[in-house]
Amino acid sequence: MKFFIDTANLEQIKEAQALGILDGVTTNPSLMAKEGITGAKNILQHYVDICNIVDGDVSAEVIAIDFEGMVKEGEALAALHPQIVVKLPMIADGIKACKYFSDKGIKTNVTLVFSAGQALLAAKAGATYMSPFIGRLDDISTDGLGLISDIKHIYDNYGFETQILAASVRHTMHIMDCAKIGADVMTGPLSAIKGLLKHPLTDSGLAQFLADYKKGN
Ligand code: G3P
Repeated sequence: MKFFIDTANLEQIKEAQALGILDGVTTNPSLMAKEGITGAKNILQHYVDICNIVDGDVSAEVIAIDFEGMVKEGEALAALHPQIVVKLPMIADGIKACKYFSDKGIKTNVTLVFSAGQALLAAKAGATYMSPFIGRLDDISTDGLGLISDIKHIYDNYGFETQILAASVRHTMHIMDCAKIGADVMTGPLSAIKGLLKHPLTDSGLAQFLADYKKGN
């Protein structure tokens, strides 16, 4: 299972990278705005800065919502750095652009997926990654993890190579449930990743080991 961090915060990306378990980064226009990164030039430079911190794939989202605009923007993003993955919205032109880029061997991430039917279309268009949003479905009393299971079942039926990138992960249990289902990738906040570290028996066991060591030394 690949671990991506879902942020544009360079300090958090560095912290996750330093842990040695990071496989990539996902961003979106909202995450960029949250870090105060605005204006095309600054945003493009920020993508390069992120690529220079991590070893893996970095999703960079297009703003255009028409095919020609997405192709132009996506080609410019892909040219920025070999680690860039062109992130495209799950709309008709996004699917057309996904096919265009996959035919050219450029990696893609189809985002804002909320149904198994959308996931099927993304796979048929040759998406490298397809991002269903778990947390946002949970927010409206719909089973986000159930969607991951349905997509996994459908992709396995046909051997689609598109990777299920579980997104809008909000907490540690989302990560564990995605791992049980077999999502290829999860992207979430640093807090959810660090939550995996925690167990009170680890803390008390370590304290006991150190105390016993001190007794004999
Ligand atoms: O990866 C998608 C993500 O950025 C959306 O997360 O928490 O805004 O639903 P959230």
